[in-house]
Amino acid sequence: MCGIVGYVGRRSCAEVLIDALSKLEYRGYDSAGIAVFEQGQIRMRKSKGRLADLSEQMKHTGIPQGNAGIGHTRWATHGEPSDLNSHPHRGGRYVTLVHNGIIENFRELKQRLTEAGRSFVSDTDTEVAAQLLDQNYAGDPLAAIAKTMEQIRGSFALGILFSDFPDTVYAVRRESPLIVGAGEGESFIASDVPAILKYTKNYYLLEHDEIAVLDRNGIRFFDMQSNPLEKQLMTADWDMDAAEKQGYEHFMLKEIHEQPEAIRRTVLPRVANGLPDLSECGITKENIRDFRNIYIVACGTAMHAGMVGKNVIEKLAGVPVIVDIASEFRYRSPLIGAGDLIIIISQSGETADSLAAMRLAKQLGAKTLAVVNAKGSSIAREADMLIYTHAGPEIAVASTKAYMVQIAVMYLFAFELALSRGTITEETCRRLTAQLLEMPAVITEILARKDALKEIAGSLLKAESLLYIGRGLDYALSMEGSLKLKEISYIHSEAYAAGELKHGTISLIYPGMPVIAVDTQKALHEKTVSNIKEVKARGAVTILVCGDSYQPEADIADHCFRLPETADDQLMPMPAVVPLQLIAYYTAVLRGNDVDKPRNLAKSVTVE
Ligand code: AGP
Repeated sequence: MCGIVGYVGRRSCAEVLIDALSKLEYRGYDSAGIAVFEQGQIRMRKSKGRLADLSEQMKHTGIPQGNAGIGHTRWATHGEPSDLNSHPHRGGRYVTLVHNGIIENFRELKQRLTEAGRSFVSDTDTEVAAQLLDQNYAGDPLAAIAKTMEQIRGSFALGILFSDFPDTVYAVRRESPLIVGAGEGESFIASDVPAILKYTKNYYLLEHDEIAVLDRNGIRFFDMQSNPLEKQLMTADWDMDAAEKQGYEHFMLKEIHEQPEAIRRTVLPRVANGLPDLSECGITKENIRDFRNIYIVACGTAMHAGMVGKNVIEKLAGVPVIVDIASEFRYRSPLIGAGDLIIIISQSGETADSLAAMRLAKQLGAKTLAVVNAKGSSIAREADMLIYTHAGPEIAVASTKAYMVQIAVMYLFAFELALSRGTITEETCRRLTAQLLEMPAVITEILARKDALKEIAGSLLKAESLLYIGRGLDYALSMEGSLKLKEISYIHSEAYAAGELKHGTISLIYPGMPVIAVDTQKALHEKTVSNIKEVKARGAVTILVCGDSYQPEADIADHCFRLPETADDQLMPMPAVVPLQLIAYYTAVLRGNDVDKPRNLAKSVTVE
């Protein structure tokens, strides 16, 4: 989704804005622009395409010279990607702004503004906000912002320049995230922390309906009645390296390699005396023992982590778990209420549907537990209980290390819940916890064999479509493997419960069609093998991801990648997802795709 930055200081503002925007590229965008105060005048540059296109354009149009301004990367919602629709947008004489989010009532506002004689040059909802703010402006920016906030509906974050107030940046938000960075003699606004890490680790979280004013004297905060606010300064625990590629060709590859460390950071602090201990997250045996049903609600990869959670929680703790897609859950009158627990899983903590689902569940009386990576995000702040995953910043749009730690948390939670309910013994819990702690070493061993996966990826390049099949946990994993391949390689694929194939989908198999079979669950092994044979008999090229004790019959697998079987089958999704991630990664690389920023996708989906 769109990225916002703003700067006031002594450096060349245009340079800072472009650099900061480059750290938000991961969010996905199709155009970019900046506006800078140059000797009291606002100079704007914007362009369809990448930041490189904007920089190229500025070689001809000139780089605005000044020390204060705003910048934006746009992910098109209202109006096609074009120079005209790119931000910043002007509203009449006084206002220039950038916007992340959606103004829901923009149509009616546009009509009213048009009737009042205002004209529009773009198709965006953003220009409506700019014109409205300009109409409301009568010399006092705070009053104009407050009045505008009363009139617009939706989720949005705005970075604003008023031509009457040179070298000053205003910011306000409702729902969409925005932070305010506090450096030495300079200040920033940004949609996310990585944008400012090069300059400062200190930042404030702007809350809903709060206004920030950045000028040469520093940063001030106000409420909607123009009362000054005191806010708590926070310090990012990520450093610059975390947001850099550090020699890897892509962020995705770097993040895949960071998985062992991410598991250690997430799991180690939550283990005491060999047993899970989630007390620092507000979770005790007493307050989780008695839930009637558990709902896990999330989107995309995070939802797939929930599928793994469902399997292990039901098996170990014996509590029914319903996994739901957040955008479905929120609109289908879910039967959730007091006595139920809803677990919201989200890397960004800002996914609009997941946040709305959590709020709905709260209204209905359920307890909420958030499993979130981004510190201080909306979902993290609003949940009753919170388990942070410590993956560090995930920059690649395709989620890898965040998924890994999400499932690590699912295990910790399932172990704790099962122990509290007496459905597993302390001894079993210790054994499983010890195996979880061994996972970083197991994954490191798999990463060392990544070349074999590059070779397998090479065999998929020409495929038009493929299937991922598996049973139980392997099916949950197949869903994630398939999504990973789709989103970055642009090859169509589908994940199927292996036993369901013959109820229709097997008719898709044609000679040469690749089928990736995940077979790590011993209890289901024979059944899965039968399904693999069925597709093989119809000409499929089979790629088998299985445990190292399994000796596949000579004719069952065209390619085989073995996983160390050091742990209980239930933990196999942790090592088994790694080859699936790497197959997707290498396929996308070999097809020449933009791996970290796949087309049409945004990292953080803050609109419906
Ligand atoms: C994963 O590779 C995707 N980019 C996407 O499915 C993502 O997991 C989903 O949008 C949820 O995001 P969240 O974890 O930030 O809520």
